Amino acid sequence: PEIRREDYRPFAWRVPQTRLDFDLSLERTTVVATLSVERNPDAEADPVLRLNGDEIEPLYVKVDGKTVNEWRMEGGDLLLPLSGSTHEVEVASSFDPSANTQLMGLFASNGILCSQCEAEGFRRIAFFPDRPDVLSTYRVRMRGQKARFPILLSNGNLESEGEGQDGTHWAEWHDPWLKPSYLFALVAGDLVARSDSFTTRGGRKVALNVWVREGDLERTEHAMESLKAAMRWDEETFGREYDLDLYNIVAVSDFNMGAMENKGLNVFNTKYVLADTETATDGDYDAVEGVIAHEYFHNWSGNRVTCRDWFQLSLKEGFTVLRDQLFSQDMQSEAVKRIEDVRVLRAAQFPEDSGPLAHPIRPDSFREISNFYTATVYNKGAEVIRMMRTMSGEERFREGTDLYFDRHDGEAATCEDFVRAIEDGAGLDLEQFRLWYSQAGTPKVSVRLEHEGSTARLHLVQTVPPTPGQPDKHPMPIPLKIALFDRDSATHDGERLVILDEAQKTLSFDGFARLPVLSINRGFSAPVTIERDISQDDLVFLAANDDDSFARYEALQDLVVNHLKAAIEGSLSESGRDRTRGAIAQAIRAVIIDDTLDDLMRGELLVLPSETYLAETMLIADPGRIHDEKEGLKADLGRRLKTDLHALYERCEQVPYSLDPAARGARKVKAQVLVLAAASDPAKAADLAAHQYGRADNMTDRQSALMVLAGLPGVERTDALLDFYNRYAGNALVIDKWFALQAGSQHPSVLEHVKALREHSDFTLANPNRVRSLMMTFAYNPHAFHAASGEGYRMIADLILELDRINPQTAARFVTPLGRWRRIETERSALMRGQLERLASATLSRDTSEQVIRSLG
Ligand code: ARG
Ligand code: ZN
Repeated sequence: PEIRREDYRPFAWRVPQTRLDFDLSLERTTVVATLSVERNPDAEADPVLRLNGDEIEPLYVKVDGKTVNEWRMEGGDLLLPLSGSTHEVEVASSFDPSANTQLMGLFASNGILCSQCEAEGFRRIAFFPDRPDVLSTYRVRMRGQKARFPILLSNGNLESEGEGQDGTHWAEWHDPWLKPSYLFALVAGDLVARSDSFTTRGGRKVALNVWVREGDLERTEHAMESLKAAMRWDEETFGREYDLDLYNIVAVSDFNMGAMENKGLNVFNTKYVLADTETATDGDYDAVEGVIAHEYFHNWSGNRVTCRDWFQLSLKEGFTVLRDQLFSQDMQSEAVKRIEDVRVLRAAQFPEDSGPLAHPIRPDSFREISNFYTATVYNKGAEVIRMMRTMSGEERFREGTDLYFDRHDGEAATCEDFVRAIEDGAGLDLEQFRLWYSQAGTPKVSVRLEHEGSTARLHLVQTVPPTPGQPDKHPMPIPLKIALFDRDSATHDGERLVILDEAQKTLSFDGFARLPVLSINRGFSAPVTIERDISQDDLVFLAANDDDSFARYEALQDLVVNHLKAAIEGSLSESGRDRTRGAIAQAIRAVIIDDTLDDLMRGELLVLPSETYLAETMLIADPGRIHDEKEGLKADLGRRLKTDLHALYERCEQVPYSLDPAARGARKVKAQVLVLAAASDPAKAADLAAHQYGRADNMTDRQSALMVLAGLPGVERTDALLDFYNRYAGNALVIDKWFALQAGSQHPSVLEHVKALREHSDFTLANPNRVRSLMMTFAYNPHAFHAASGEGYRMIADLILELDRINPQTAARFVTPLGRWRRIETERSALMRGQLERLASATLSRDTSEQVIRSLG
């Protein structure tokens, strides 16, 4: 059944205190949950207390100390009639963690017992009102075999511990802060910690631990440094201090998502904790830093102020993503980070917004909330809050967030509460802006600049496309940063912020003797697509001269996108194609030789638009033609720029390894040179890559070389893949890379490779990282997934059917690529739809069936 936002009702009961008593074992864990319950005066009374449950067995129920039998089950839930207005309710339950392949609730990962409760996993551990607006303090006692579970962790502070009988021991934890059940956590197993401490601005000394398996300790330094940096940054930037004496992070190998912000006990996918030079790329280092910070920032945006219901998910996720983006901007290069974030938004969120799964950042209905942990809720959610910050300015925005935290500390709040706090604190009028919370779809802004006399006139027109369930849209306020460049001096008279808040608007600017060059949506000030009526020459001008790095990047991207679109539509003559390719090569040459650019930015500018993004810019895409045309351009650019690229590579090759921006930039540039060379001169590229692979003293260089080799035929490929595998056998995260490099390759036989790897002894459906490394990479490799035969579609549907029985949450994520069928040329489209229909006729989990039904439309 569908759950609707408008049906929200407060829960009839409050649960101010919760006590959990765990008897831990891998095969059978029992829990005694003791809840102090009282009528909620702010809710309609209900004489029945509904305790959610899922695949757990009730053992007994007591009310005020006496066993009662007047309860019944409804589905997985336990319904208990209560006569008075305050009671102590005790419910015992048991389940088998080792059989928990969904990885929701309490499960075993390499013998470590570990929980994941968000969104609705707590009900797989204990009977409880498993909804985020029921806040409680938790006291947790856990007991287990000391040999098997030497370390016993839960939320808050460790209050006492001791030895029991028959080789058992126990620990008792208390979390003084009110929290919803989704923030509960428990970990028990054989772990070791890197320990450190952090003293808050207010003088609280916090013990920090990063817990991992024995052999992984040396790879935790970067995680710990990132945590301390995040703690300091949040004090300085948002005025937020940590509020317990202990902060634990645990890394496990089997995890559906990146990480989880449980109060005082974050649980992480090892992928976002472990890093060293030998095994982690520069990108991995950044990801660890970003996710560690993200989970830390949730302590305020998520935990101290949580969500009233799951429709408000973006309240904590959108805001926390913005906070982690701003943090990473401050840690690394601000300009490069902004481009990366926009690239993620365009690759993951724009397609969502233009497809069958489109939903507003605050959805109106769902069947399975796990399906709404999306790029829309997270990344577009962050962009929406970023726009508020852009409109108010940093300082006033901070007044808004201060007011938000003050006003709602200890509460389960709504997106509306957040908007109102920003309005009141930052002094903005956001009445119309609220449409960003309710309307799905990426707005399109058409832009035209005219000149007459000494006046430049900017015409702006916005359209918000129809999305499922939302045929008609209202115009939204779109904040656009613009600059008008003088063509001769290549300067402008200052950046302006214009707000397009109507369907159309014309703005006039005086004092321009000639038509200026328009730079618009600078810094990507609004998450929209811009359709600009602009000449190729002006794009070349901006690509060379714009002082806003994002706008400069954008001009170069537009130059390429416009060209490839024209080429694919067949509207280019041979000479026209040659001329444009020449212009693109000129613009890239300018980037190569511009010594005002650092290599990190240079590397970023050399990345051509992805095939997925190109498809997204077309109403109906032909993935085969996109691939061929883009490869053709790469080959052509590689040839035209051969000498410059060679010199660039040679210079970067001299830079010794370090994590400094300059050295990272050099590695990024080398990778891009290899990518262009692979298209233009495969033999030369194989040579260069094999050489780089052989002498690499870090994973970034080794991986980028192997990525290129994996796409080329020849003996270098086989040798390098074998070497890499042997070198890292037993290191799960690096073997994941080995699978991913092959699944994401440009090799003509990639489909056969993936089929063979699916049978590899290291492949398993039980581990989400492994499944994603092979199959998600494959599903998002257009050249493989969209094989004209339809084989790629069938392989993904086969996977969904098999995985759905093991891990529905992860299986459901694979439906998305098939859901693109409406935007793909007819033959492939029919094949994609055919696989969705095949899925629809099978028995599926709630997660996967929701995605299949929505994808078919
Ligand atoms: N709150 C976590 C984070 O963003 C993600 C939890 C995902 N849970 C889920 N059921 N999908 O940091
Ligand atoms: Zn989050």
